[in-house]
Amino acid sequence: MPHTFPGHFPATRLRRGRATDFARRLSRETRLSVDDLIYPVFVTEGEPVNVTAMPGVQRHTLEGLLREMTDVVALGIPAVVLFPVIDPDKKTLDAEEAANPDGLVPQAIRAIKQEFPQLGVMTDVALDPYTSHGQDGVIDDNGYVLNDPTIDILVRQTLAHADAGADIVSPSDMMDGRIQAMRAALEEKGHVNTLIMSYAAKFASSLYNPFREAVGSAANLGKADKRTYQVDPTNTDEALREVALDLKEGADMVMVKPGMPYLDIIHRVKSTFGVPTFAYQVSGEYAMLKAAIDNGWLDERSAVLECLGSFKRAGCDGILTYFAKDAARWLAD
Ligand code: PBG
Repeated sequence: MPHTFPGHFPATRLRRGRATDFARRLSRETRLSVDDLIYPVFVTEGEPVNVTAMPGVQRHTLEGLLREMTDVVALGIPAVVLFPVIDPDKKTLDAEEAANPDGLVPQAIRAIKQEFPQLGVMTDVALDPYTSHGQDGVIDDNGYVLNDPTIDILVRQTLAHADAGADIVSPSDMMDGRIQAMRAALEEKGHVNTLIMSYAAKFASSLYNPFREAVGSAANLGKADKRTYQVDPTNTDEALREVALDLKEGADMVMVKPGMPYLDIIHRVKSTFGVPTFAYQVSGEYAMLKAAIDNGWLDERSAVLECLGSFKRAGCDGILTYFAKDAARWLAD
Protein backbone atom coordinates (compact mmCIF):
# COMPACT_ATOMS: atom_id res chain seq x y z
CA MET A 1 0.00 0.00 0.00
CA PRO A 2 1.88 3.10 -1.17
CA HIS A 3 0.01 5.35 1.27
CA THR A 4 1.13 3.24 4.26
CA PHE A 5 4.83 4.06 3.88
CA PRO A 6 4.92 7.21 1.74
CA GLY A 7 8.26 7.36 -0.06
CA HIS A 8 9.85 4.41 1.74
CA PHE A 9 9.23 0.84 2.96
CA PRO A 10 10.49 -1.31 5.84
CA ALA A 11 13.96 -2.60 4.88
CA THR A 12 13.45 -5.67 7.01
CA ARG A 13 10.28 -7.66 6.90
CA LEU A 14 10.76 -10.58 9.30
CA ARG A 15 7.47 -12.01 8.10
CA ARG A 16 9.08 -12.75 4.71
CA GLY A 17 11.03 -15.58 6.35
CA ARG A 18 7.90 -16.92 7.99
CA ALA A 19 5.66 -16.86 4.95
CA THR A 20 6.38 -20.36 3.67
CA ASP A 21 7.02 -23.72 5.21
CA PHE A 22 10.34 -24.21 3.37
CA ALA A 23 11.67 -20.86 4.62
CA ARG A 24 10.62 -21.58 8.19
CA ARG A 25 12.36 -24.96 8.00
CA LEU A 26 15.55 -23.43 6.59
CA SER A 27 15.80 -20.83 9.32
CA ARG A 28 15.12 -23.00 12.37
CA GLU A 29 17.85 -22.26 14.96
CA THR A 30 17.39 -25.23 17.26
CA ARG A 31 16.03 -28.70 16.81
CA LEU A 32 14.81 -31.43 19.11
CA SER A 33 15.85 -34.94 18.16
CA VAL A 34 15.50 -38.40 19.64
CA ASP A 35 19.20 -38.15 20.52
CA ASP A 36 18.31 -35.55 23.15
CA LEU A 37 16.07 -37.80 25.22
CA ILE A 38 16.59 -39.70 28.47
CA TYR A 39 13.62 -41.70 29.69
CA PRO A 40 13.02 -42.04 33.46
CA VAL A 41 11.52 -45.39 34.54
CA PHE A 42 10.28 -46.73 37.87
CA VAL A 43 11.04 -50.31 38.84
CA THR A 44 9.40 -52.12 41.74
CA GLU A 45 9.90 -55.29 43.72
CA GLY A 46 6.14 -55.42 44.20
CA GLU A 47 3.16 -55.40 41.87
CA PRO A 48 2.98 -53.15 38.79
CA VAL A 49 1.02 -49.99 39.67
CA ASN A 50 -0.15 -46.95 37.71
CA VAL A 51 1.06 -43.70 39.25
CA THR A 52 -2.07 -41.64 39.96
CA ALA A 53 -0.58 -38.19 39.61
CA MET A 54 1.34 -39.16 36.45
CA PRO A 55 -1.17 -40.57 33.95
CA GLY A 56 0.59 -42.98 31.58
CA VAL A 57 3.45 -43.70 34.01
CA GLN A 58 3.77 -47.05 35.80
CA ARG A 59 5.92 -48.75 38.36
CA HIS A 60 7.27 -51.74 36.43
CA THR A 61 8.33 -55.17 37.61
CA LEU A 62 11.68 -56.37 36.24
CA GLU A 63 9.86 -58.21 33.44
CA GLY A 64 7.72 -55.16 32.67
CA LEU A 65 10.86 -53.05 32.66
CA LEU A 66 12.45 -55.22 29.99
CA ARG A 67 9.32 -54.94 27.81
CA GLU A 68 9.51 -51.18 28.25
CA MET A 69 13.20 -51.25 27.20
CA THR A 70 12.28 -53.10 24.01
CA ASP A 71 10.14 -50.08 23.03
CA VAL A 72 12.80 -47.60 24.11
CA VAL A 73 15.46 -49.31 21.99
CA ALA A 74 13.13 -49.64 19.00
CA LEU A 75 12.40 -45.91 19.21
CA GLY A 76 16.11 -45.09 19.25
CA ILE A 77 16.12 -43.37 22.67
CA PRO A 78 19.78 -43.29 23.78
CA ALA A 79 19.42 -43.77 27.54
CA VAL A 80 17.13 -44.46 30.47
CA VAL A 81 17.36 -43.52 34.14
CA LEU A 82 16.19 -45.97 36.78
CA PHE A 83 14.28 -45.16 39.96
CA PRO A 84 13.54 -47.94 42.44
CA VAL A 85 10.43 -48.48 44.52
CA ILE A 86 11.79 -50.21 47.60
CA ASP A 87 9.88 -52.62 49.79
CA PRO A 88 8.83 -50.72 52.97
CA ASP A 89 10.46 -53.36 55.23
CA LYS A 90 13.83 -52.69 53.59
CA LYS A 91 13.73 -48.98 54.41
CA THR A 92 15.86 -48.03 57.40
CA LEU A 93 17.29 -44.96 59.14
CA ASP A 94 20.69 -45.48 57.50
CA ALA A 95 19.46 -46.67 54.05
CA GLU A 96 21.84 -49.61 54.03
CA GLU A 97 19.83 -51.29 51.23
CA ALA A 98 21.00 -48.52 48.87
CA ALA A 99 24.45 -50.12 48.75
CA ASN A 100 23.28 -53.72 48.36
CA PRO A 101 25.18 -55.09 45.34
CA ASP A 102 22.24 -57.44 44.70
CA GLY A 103 19.53 -54.85 45.36
CA LEU A 104 16.76 -53.94 42.96
CA VAL A 105 18.73 -51.35 40.97
CA PRO A 106 21.82 -53.54 40.39
CA GLN A 107 19.48 -56.37 39.35
CA ALA A 108 17.67 -54.07 36.93
CA ILE A 109 20.95 -52.80 35.46
CA ARG A 110 22.24 -56.34 34.90
CA ALA A 111 18.98 -57.45 33.32
CA ILE A 112 18.90 -54.47 30.93
CA LYS A 113 22.59 -54.70 30.03
CA GLN A 114 22.27 -58.39 29.27
CA GLU A 115 19.48 -57.83 26.73
CA PHE A 116 20.32 -54.35 25.49
CA PRO A 117 24.06 -53.77 25.92
CA GLN A 118 24.01 -50.63 23.74
CA LEU A 119 21.32 -48.81 25.72
CA GLY A 120 22.75 -46.18 28.09
CA VAL A 121 21.78 -46.98 31.66
CA MET A 122 21.83 -44.16 34.16
CA THR A 123 21.06 -44.53 37.87
CA ASP A 124 19.94 -42.15 40.56
CA VAL A 125 22.40 -41.94 43.44
CA ALA A 126 20.42 -40.83 46.49
CA LEU A 127 18.98 -42.41 49.58
CA ASP A 128 15.35 -41.25 49.61
CA PRO A 129 13.84 -44.47 48.21
CA TYR A 130 15.69 -46.38 50.97
CA THR A 131 15.28 -44.24 54.11
CA SER A 132 12.45 -44.74 56.60
CA HIS A 133 12.15 -40.93 56.84
CA GLY A 134 12.24 -40.20 53.08
CA GLN A 135 15.20 -37.80 53.23
CA ASP A 136 18.09 -38.10 50.75
CA GLY A 137 20.62 -38.70 53.52
CA VAL A 138 21.32 -39.95 56.99
CA ILE A 139 19.73 -37.74 59.66
CA ASP A 140 20.61 -36.68 63.21
CA ASP A 141 18.19 -36.58 66.16
CA ASN A 142 16.72 -33.30 64.92
CA GLY A 143 16.08 -34.63 61.42
CA TYR A 144 19.00 -32.65 59.94
CA VAL A 145 20.63 -34.44 57.01
CA LEU A 146 24.29 -35.12 57.82
CA ASN A 147 26.60 -34.40 54.90
CA ASP A 148 29.71 -36.55 55.31
CA PRO A 149 28.10 -39.71 56.72
CA THR A 150 25.65 -39.56 53.80
CA ILE A 151 28.52 -39.41 51.33
CA ASP A 152 29.98 -42.66 52.70
CA ILE A 153 26.88 -44.58 51.74
CA LEU A 154 26.40 -42.69 48.46
CA VAL A 155 29.88 -43.83 47.45
CA ARG A 156 29.04 -47.44 48.23
CA GLN A 157 25.77 -47.07 46.29
CA THR A 158 27.72 -45.62 43.35
CA LEU A 159 30.06 -48.61 43.31
CA ALA A 160 27.17 -51.09 43.52
CA HIS A 161 25.66 -49.44 40.44
CA ALA A 162 28.94 -49.19 38.53
CA ASP A 163 29.88 -52.79 39.33
CA ALA A 164 26.50 -53.89 37.97
CA GLY A 165 27.23 -52.05 34.71
CA ALA A 166 25.69 -48.58 35.05
CA ASP A 167 27.01 -46.22 32.35
CA ILE A 168 26.10 -42.98 34.10
CA VAL A 169 25.73 -42.46 37.84
CA SER A 170 23.67 -39.46 38.71
CA PRO A 171 23.70 -38.10 42.25
CA SER A 172 20.47 -36.24 43.08
CA ASP A 173 21.18 -35.80 46.79
CA MET A 174 22.86 -32.33 46.84
CA MET A 175 25.44 -33.18 49.54
CA ASP A 176 28.60 -31.05 49.39
CA GLY A 177 31.66 -32.85 48.06
CA ARG A 178 29.95 -36.01 46.85
CA ILE A 179 31.17 -35.77 43.26
CA GLN A 180 34.80 -35.77 44.34
CA ALA A 181 34.25 -38.77 46.61
CA MET A 182 32.35 -40.69 43.93
CA ARG A 183 34.93 -39.91 41.25
CA ALA A 184 37.82 -41.05 43.46
CA ALA A 185 36.06 -44.30 44.33
CA LEU A 186 35.20 -45.01 40.69
CA GLU A 187 38.81 -44.39 39.62
CA GLU A 188 40.20 -46.60 42.39
CA LYS A 189 37.94 -49.45 41.33
CA GLY A 190 38.89 -49.12 37.67
CA HIS A 191 35.58 -47.62 36.51
CA VAL A 192 37.40 -44.93 34.58
CA ASN A 193 34.71 -44.55 31.91
CA THR A 194 31.69 -44.37 34.18
CA LEU A 195 30.14 -40.98 33.56
CA ILE A 196 28.87 -38.76 36.35
CA MET A 197 25.88 -36.57 35.59
CA SER A 198 25.38 -34.43 38.63
CA TYR A 199 22.09 -32.95 39.63
CA ALA A 200 24.18 -29.83 40.09
CA ALA A 201 21.50 -27.16 40.25
CA LYS A 202 18.69 -28.97 41.98
CA PHE A 203 16.11 -26.69 43.52
CA ALA A 204 13.89 -27.31 46.56
CA SER A 205 10.85 -27.45 44.30
CA SER A 206 7.21 -28.20 44.95
CA LEU A 207 7.08 -29.92 41.56
CA TYR A 208 8.52 -33.25 42.79
CA ASN A 209 5.38 -34.45 44.61
CA PRO A 210 4.11 -36.85 41.92
CA PHE A 211 7.58 -38.44 41.78
CA ARG A 212 7.51 -38.99 45.54
CA GLU A 213 4.22 -40.86 45.09
CA ALA A 214 5.81 -42.85 42.25
CA VAL A 215 8.87 -43.99 44.25
CA GLY A 216 6.82 -44.39 47.40
CA SER A 217 8.73 -41.90 49.56
CA ALA A 218 5.90 -39.35 50.02
CA ALA A 219 4.44 -40.99 53.13
CA ASN A 220 7.90 -41.45 54.66
CA LEU A 221 8.76 -37.79 54.14
CA GLY A 222 5.40 -36.56 55.44
CA LYS A 223 5.40 -32.81 55.97
CA ALA A 224 9.20 -32.54 56.07
CA ASP A 225 11.03 -30.78 53.24
CA LYS A 226 14.49 -30.79 51.64
CA ARG A 227 15.36 -27.13 51.98
CA THR A 228 18.53 -27.70 54.01
CA TYR A 229 20.21 -29.26 50.98
CA GLN A 230 18.34 -28.37 47.78
CA VAL A 231 18.85 -24.83 46.38
CA ASP A 232 16.34 -22.11 47.25
CA PRO A 233 14.15 -21.47 44.17
CA THR A 234 14.88 -17.73 44.30
CA ASN A 235 18.61 -18.09 43.62
CA THR A 236 20.73 -18.02 40.47
CA ASP A 237 24.34 -17.34 41.51
CA GLU A 238 24.17 -20.12 44.07
CA ALA A 239 23.07 -22.56 41.36
CA LEU A 240 26.06 -21.49 39.27
CA ARG A 241 28.41 -22.06 42.21
CA GLU A 242 26.98 -25.57 42.59
CA VAL A 243 27.69 -26.29 38.93
CA ALA A 244 31.23 -24.86 39.15
CA LEU A 245 32.04 -27.02 42.17
CA ASP A 246 30.62 -30.20 40.65
CA LEU A 247 32.66 -29.66 37.48
CA LYS A 248 35.79 -29.03 39.49
CA GLU A 249 35.16 -32.21 41.46
CA GLY A 250 34.87 -34.28 38.27
CA ALA A 251 31.31 -34.21 36.95
CA ASP A 252 31.12 -34.98 33.21
CA MET A 253 27.62 -33.63 32.65
CA VAL A 254 25.45 -31.34 34.71
CA MET A 255 21.74 -31.09 35.22
CA VAL A 256 19.30 -28.36 36.11
CA LYS A 257 16.12 -29.47 37.85
CA PRO A 258 13.18 -28.73 37.55
CA GLY A 259 13.16 -27.73 33.90
CA MET A 260 10.72 -25.23 32.49
CA PRO A 261 10.48 -22.83 35.45
CA TYR A 262 14.31 -22.74 35.44
CA LEU A 263 15.17 -22.05 31.79
CA ASP A 264 17.09 -18.95 32.92
CA ILE A 265 19.39 -21.18 34.98
CA ILE A 266 19.90 -23.56 32.06
CA HIS A 267 20.81 -20.67 29.82
CA ARG A 268 23.31 -19.27 32.30
CA VAL A 269 24.87 -22.66 33.00
CA LYS A 270 25.37 -23.43 29.32
CA SER A 271 26.71 -19.99 28.45
CA THR A 272 29.02 -19.84 31.47
CA PHE A 273 30.54 -23.32 31.38
CA GLY A 274 29.93 -24.71 27.89
CA VAL A 275 29.64 -28.26 29.22
CA PRO A 276 27.08 -30.99 28.48
CA THR A 277 23.97 -29.55 30.12
CA PHE A 278 20.75 -31.41 30.82
CA ALA A 279 17.35 -30.49 32.18
CA TYR A 280 14.94 -32.66 34.10
CA GLN A 281 11.37 -31.96 33.08
CA VAL A 282 10.11 -33.25 36.43
CA SER A 283 7.03 -35.13 37.54
CA GLY A 284 5.07 -31.98 38.41
CA GLU A 285 5.71 -30.52 34.97
CA TYR A 286 4.52 -33.77 33.42
CA ALA A 287 1.46 -33.79 35.69
CA MET A 288 0.53 -30.21 34.79
CA LEU A 289 0.77 -30.87 31.07
CA LYS A 290 -1.09 -34.18 31.29
CA ALA A 291 -3.88 -32.66 33.36
CA ALA A 292 -4.47 -29.96 30.75
CA ILE A 293 -4.12 -32.44 27.88
CA ASP A 294 -6.49 -34.96 29.47
CA ASN A 295 -9.05 -32.18 29.91
CA GLY A 296 -8.78 -31.31 26.24
CA TRP A 297 -7.31 -27.88 27.06
CA LEU A 298 -3.99 -28.45 25.29
CA ASP A 299 -3.07 -30.42 22.21
CA GLU A 300 -0.63 -33.06 23.44
CA ARG A 301 1.76 -33.33 20.56
CA SER A 302 2.23 -29.64 19.84
CA ALA A 303 2.32 -28.58 23.52
CA VAL A 304 4.82 -31.25 24.55
CA LEU A 305 7.12 -30.75 21.56
CA GLU A 306 7.08 -26.98 22.13
CA CYS A 307 7.98 -27.39 25.82
CA LEU A 308 10.75 -29.89 25.03
CA GLY A 309 12.01 -27.59 22.28
CA SER A 310 12.28 -24.74 24.79
CA PHE A 311 15.01 -26.68 26.59
CA LYS A 312 17.06 -26.84 23.40
CA ARG A 313 16.57 -23.12 22.81
CA ALA A 314 17.71 -22.40 26.39
CA GLY A 315 20.94 -24.33 25.73
CA CYS A 316 20.30 -27.91 26.80
CA ASP A 317 22.08 -30.83 25.22
CA GLY A 318 19.49 -33.25 26.49
CA ILE A 319 16.33 -33.65 28.52
CA LEU A 320 15.11 -36.19 31.05
CA THR A 321 11.41 -36.46 30.29
CA TYR A 322 8.52 -38.81 31.01
CA PHE A 323 7.33 -37.88 27.50
CA ALA A 324 10.45 -39.41 25.91
CA LYS A 325 8.67 -42.31 24.20
CA ASP A 326 5.85 -40.10 22.84
CA ALA A 327 8.32 -37.47 21.67
CA ALA A 328 10.47 -40.10 19.94
CA ARG A 329 7.38 -41.37 18.13
CA TRP A 330 6.27 -37.90 17.03
CA LEU A 331 9.78 -36.94 15.92
CA ALA A 332 9.94 -40.06 13.73
CA ASP A 333 6.67 -39.18 11.90
C1 PBG B 1 15.36 -37.66 44.86
C2 PBG B 1 14.87 -37.35 43.51
C3 PBG B 1 13.73 -36.60 43.29
C4 PBG B 1 13.54 -36.56 41.91
C5 PBG B 1 14.58 -37.29 41.31
N1 PBG B 1 15.40 -37.77 42.31
C6 PBG B 1 12.78 -35.98 44.23
C7 PBG B 1 13.23 -35.22 45.39
O1 PBG B 1 14.30 -34.61 45.40
O2 PBG B 1 12.47 -35.24 46.36
C8 PBG B 1 12.39 -35.86 41.28
C9 PBG B 1 12.05 -36.20 39.89
C10 PBG B 1 10.69 -35.76 39.46
O3 PBG B 1 9.98 -35.02 40.16
O4 PBG B 1 10.31 -36.17 38.36
N2 PBG B 1 16.62 -38.04 45.07
